[in-house]
Amino acid sequence: MPVKFKIQGHLIRRIVAYTKPYRWLFYGAMAITLVLSGMSIARPLFINAAIQSVTDQQNQMHAFYVWCNLILFSLITESALQIVNLRMTSILGQRIVRDLRNSVFQHLLHRKHAYFDKNTVGTMVTRAVSDIESINDMFSQGFIVIAGDILTICIFIGVMLAVNPLLALIAMSTIPLLFIATALFKRGVKSSFSQVRTAVASLNTFIQEHINGMAVVQLFNRQQAEYKKFIIINAEHRKAHIRSILYYSVFFPVVEILISISIALVLWTAGLKHNSWHLGLGELTFFIMMVQLMFRPIRILADRLNALQMGFVSAERIFSVLDNTESMEDSGTINFNGLTTAIEFKNVFFAYKPDEPVIKGISVYFEKGKTHAIVGQTGSGKSTIAALMARFYDPDSGSITFDGVPLTQYRMSHIRRKTALVLQEVHLLNDTIFNNISLRNSEISRAQVLKGIQELHLDTFISSFEGGLDYKVQERGQSLSSGQRQLIAFIRAYIFNPDIFILDEATATLDSYTEQYIQTALQTLLKNRTCILIAHRLSTIKHAHCIYVMHSGQIQEQGSFNTLMALQSHFYTMYNTQ
Ligand SMILES: Nc1ncnc2c1ncn2[C@@H]1O[C@H](COP(=O)(O)OP(=O)(O)OP(=O)(O)O)[C@@H](O)[C@H]1O
Ligand SMILES: [Mg+2]
Repeated sequence: MPVKFKIQGHLIRRIVAYTKPYRWLFYGAMAITLVLSGMSIARPLFINAAIQSVTDQQNQMHAFYVWCNLILFSLITESALQIVNLRMTSILGQRIVRDLRNSVFQHLLHRKHAYFDKNTVGTMVTRAVSDIESINDMFSQGFIVIAGDILTICIFIGVMLAVNPLLALIAMSTIPLLFIATALFKRGVKSSFSQVRTAVASLNTFIQEHINGMAVVQLFNRQQAEYKKFIIINAEHRKAHIRSILYYSVFFPVVEILISISIALVLWTAGLKHNSWHLGLGELTFFIMMVQLMFRPIRILADRLNALQMGFVSAERIFSVLDNTESMEDSGTINFNGLTTAIEFKNVFFAYKPDEPVIKGISVYFEKGKTHAIVGQTGSGKSTIAALMARFYDPDSGSITFDGVPLTQYRMSHIRRKTALVLQEVHLLNDTIFNNISLRNSEISRAQVLKGIQELHLDTFISSFEGGLDYKVQERGQSLSSGQRQLIAFIRAYIFNPDIFILDEATATLDSYTEQYIQTALQTLLKNRTCILIAHRLSTIKHAHCIYVMHSGQIQEQGSFNTLMALQSHFYTMYNTQ
């Protein structure tokens, strides 16, 4: 994505605002950079003086030694300051990176559920990791260094003009060519840079997708075919990299040639004007050094401006994340200490995407302390009902009330504290079973977890894992079956001691081993709670107080198991076909 370089005032202001807590580092680095720019002229001047002192008639060796010592001193001071400066700019850059990353992550933690439906994991990981990294480059080789480079170039030009205006102009005569070469280089590098980034992204995506979907690849014997695809993508990546290096490999020699032309021109002019100018050897050496020293920052400037530009692109993306204000409105003030009468949905409508309603006028009544069930075909909107109760989303119209009070009027944290929702797809962390149950909450003790496991009769289930509670769950819990993952979520929910328990059953089919554990654990979990079971296995809900049968976002039938069976309608057919 080629981006035109603009001085983006608003972005600079926002980025610089992040330096506020580290003001002394920012100004300190700035001051050292300026001192270094000023000092960069000292060495050529000292060398000039040293050579001049030995070529003078008097042949003053004493003066020569003094100048040599000064050269050594300025070299050491410059190097020391450069070390300090580099350290300061990288500390500054990394602190800003840390702060930005913290705020991006904190911001993401409070986004609406819908935000995550719209943005892919890959994009958000890129924002929080590599985009932020380019902000570091803005500080380590951006703002401050560029200011120093420009100052250095100005000082060099000024001093050269003061020493010998004509020779200075001749020395600088190739600068326009350098600018043209730089502009061409910058354009080439920019496009190849974005090609590299695209290639890296597709490589990442390809590998990630294939590792995640390895089962599908292997089941369908796609190894060879996928390998061939990978070879092509990998070759693209190599080509993009080589292309970007090509620009550098052409640009740097071109600059060297321009420097040599400038030096040749200086020498040539000096030779021609030798008699009239009485140019000393020191002065000539000084000019040759100046040409070399002046071209260096100009050459690097192109690279630095690129880094700055990439930083701006990243900053824009990061700020677009930070500027997203779609957080779940949490303006409720009423405390919720548990249900006293019922949860009620009245004519609720909801759509994930505008004009594609998923819930179409649902009214249900979940009475306190009873077990209710929701059944229905896949995609009929059962999980959506659970998501609405947990306030992942708010309905578009109609009302959801707890004890007659709209859900939105309660403090969200209170509702969540009293409601446990076991999701259809349980997400486990790459950690021990114990930490997956306690969610690393230090207030939950091991004894408490063990007691919960015992009460749910899941001791043998847990000890069937090597190391029991200390069994390390592999990434995303893929090493466990969905039923096993839900059982771990049961323990998590039970220890939480919720007033309302919502279970979104994972699958219609469970192995008899897991099935047995789920049934036993449910008996304890359902006791004395308001429960909503989203069930796929109709045999498990025989004792539910009321069963709601959903069909494409609406309630088709409702009643107790016996009533629905007696109706011999939808539920009856579903039950008999299972
Ligand atoms: N995050 C989402 N964004 C957009 N559409 C969604 C989203 N989640 C679900 N849907 C759509 O909403 C409809 C209802 O989905 P829902 O998950 O509530 O069905 P379900 O009854 O739980 O199905 P299942 O029995 O397979 O779990 C489906 O058509 C689904 O494609
Ligand atoms: Mg579902």
